[in-house]
Amino acid sequence: MQDASHHEKGHVELHGVEDFAAMRRAGKLAAEVMDFITPYVVPGARTGDLDELCDKFTRDHGATSAPLGYRGYPRATCISPNHVVCHGIPGDKRLEDGDIVNIDITVLLDGWHGDTSRMFLVGDKIGVKARKLVDVTYECLMMGIEAVKPGATFGDIGHAIQTHAEAAGFSIVRDFCGHGVGKVFHTQPSVLHYGEAGKGDRILRGMFFTIEPMINAGRYDVKVLGDGWTAVTKDKSLSAQFEHMVGVTDSGAEIFTLSPKGWHRPPYD
Ligand code: MF3
Ligand code: CO
Ligand code: CO
Repeated sequence: MQDASHHEKGHVELHGVEDFAAMRRAGKLAAEVMDFITPYVVPGARTGDLDELCDKFTRDHGATSAPLGYRGYPRATCISPNHVVCHGIPGDKRLEDGDIVNIDITVLLDGWHGDTSRMFLVGDKIGVKARKLVDVTYECLMMGIEAVKPGATFGDIGHAIQTHAEAAGFSIVRDFCGHGVGKVFHTQPSVLHYGEAGKGDRILRGMFFTIEPMINAGRYDVKVLGDGWTAVTKDKSLSAQFEHMVGVTDSGAEIFTLSPKGWHRPPYD
């Protein structure tokens, strides 16, 4: 996701049928990487190993991992457990029974980015609050997507997400947002996950962007650790996120990153 301070206004690209076809291919591969890694997300799994498996699958399918080397990011994927909000760097950490964890994949296929993330429930000792956070976060993503249509505004998306999250007693992270995507990884528009209905720029047919709400069980404040990447909740509360990439059609949104296996939200079996 993009740093929410990058709200520079500018030209938002509008795409035609060939670009939609290219994004469909990139989005599908990203979703296939997620489906592929799913059975490996179990107690004891080392996050660095999950990262390497994803990178190999991506390369075996003719693409590369866009995060690797992006602004100096050191790995192929982001893996963010528990109170990590986003940009968790895979490494020696092993997943434990009861963890919730986000895996965020971005492939670069034939010059186009496919960016998606899902939550996973590790093992069977998931707390009631953690499960509810994951469910509500998924619902928020889908309610945001349902608000997408030509003539609606970006505030409508944020409003749909914020209303549902706050009704459940959760909070919306302010410091990161969704983003335009395509040949460029992060571009205009900035897609805030909170807002007021009818406010903000108009959504136009042919726009490509992500919606990727980060929702905290506690307060929304975030801090970035000394590695310069790992963003965590300041109050150490749990955080969840799902991400899809959409294209705006005549009547709504086409989701480019749907799971071919139908593994939209956990449990994935
Ligand atoms: N995939 C993330 C997003 O949703 C961005 C990761 S960039 C990285 O936008 F450098 F942190 F990996
Ligand atoms: Co993104
Ligand atoms: Co992402």
